[in-house]
Amino acid sequence: MPMVCLTDYEDYAREHLPKATWDYYAAGADECCTRDDNLLAYKRIRLRPRMLRNVSVTDTRTTILGSEVSCPVGIAPTAFHCLAWPEGELSTARASEAMKICYITSTYSTCSVEEIAAAAPNGLRWFQLYVYRNRKLSEQLIQRVEKLGFKALVLTVDVPYPGKRREDIRNNFKLPPHLKVKNLDSSFEESNSPEEYGVPVQTLDPSISWKDIHWLQSVTHLPIVIKGILTKEDAELAVEHGVQGIIVSNHGGRQLDGAPATIDALSEIVDTVQGRIEVYLDGGIRTGCDVLKALALGAKCVFIGRPVVWGLSYKGEEGVRDILQILNDEFRLSMALSGCRDVTEVNSSLIQMSRL
Ligand SMILES: Cc1cc2nc3c(=O)[nH]c(=O)nc-3n(C[C@H](O)[C@H](O)[C@H](O)COP(=O)(O)O)c2cc1C
Repeated sequence: MPMVCLTDYEDYAREHLPKATWDYYAAGADECCTRDDNLLAYKRIRLRPRMLRNVSVTDTRTTILGSEVSCPVGIAPTAFHCLAWPEGELSTARASEAMKICYITSTYSTCSVEEIAAAAPNGLRWFQLYVYRNRKLSEQLIQRVEKLGFKALVLTVDVPYPGKRREDIRNNFKLPPHLKVKNLDSSFEESNSPEEYGVPVQTLDPSISWKDIHWLQSVTHLPIVIKGILTKEDAELAVEHGVQGIIVSNHGGRQLDGAPATIDALSEIVDTVQGRIEVYLDGGIRTGCDVLKALALGAKCVFIGRPVVWGLSYKGEEGVRDILQILNDEFRLSMALSGCRDVTEVNSSLIQMSRL
């Protein structure tokens, strides 16, 4: 059977990954209302396609923080890719380089940032950062990724504590002993803090506040993108604190259950930001039409999380390239069928008014 859409890869991963691994990737917090709403919210939006607009040539390219990408879809940071495929993040990096899109590498990668940069030296990479109680640990990581040519820091702000994911607790899910969070490896050995998934999460600093943005700016010259914003109030604060971008995200529904679907939170943020910084979105993107809707509502680019690990579990680099190609092809077709020749023509007039 040919694989034709992202959910075919989801079905494959569900059937072939060990149950505890599948559960870890699929997990949402508590009752999974937010995780599920991320997807359902797209299905409630209807479009206003325009006709007779000569869509014989279409162009899906755009830019993010000044870098050109082939398509407004990038890879969101997700942990532990080696659970899905032996070469893990190396395969993800190679696929994103080949597809000319942005790969946000997770702090909790099972390959080191040095290995990832070497695997795909010409790929566009941003680095996702958590702030640790030990600020020196974060600073050392920042220096490493700056040297390796990562182009932005993505600060995840929605994990002062990890959300409660029921299946992981039932499965007592842990990273198997042959895998390591390599970016933090040496610091782990020195650390005695309690672990989650074999990772000492207690070192994450729950006291992190807006003041820390100034600290971060003082230790890096890279642009800063804040990941996990869901309200216009926080979007305004992000702009006032001088960051370069926001990712509207609820962590794939893994943190606060009851947070809004990201596509439902997007409009108030875009209205507040008024183009002063770039606004991106992740959560629930499964089709090219979802990408079109997010762009029409003001996202500059979207990022995908779980579909990447489904692609990895299918065929490593080739599987990730497949899912990126499918999304790109579907997005191009949705653009053309709604009368848009390029991403500059995708705007809020495409969305049915009852929604705005
Ligand atoms: C298995 C898994 C691991 C994740 N790990 C991280 C992480 O290390 N850092 C982070 O900022 N977000 C992490 N996220 C959240 C993703 O970056 C992203 O917000 C989310 O997956 C988007 O939703 P989607 O999976 O529906 O595309 C993780 C998500 C999943 C599913």
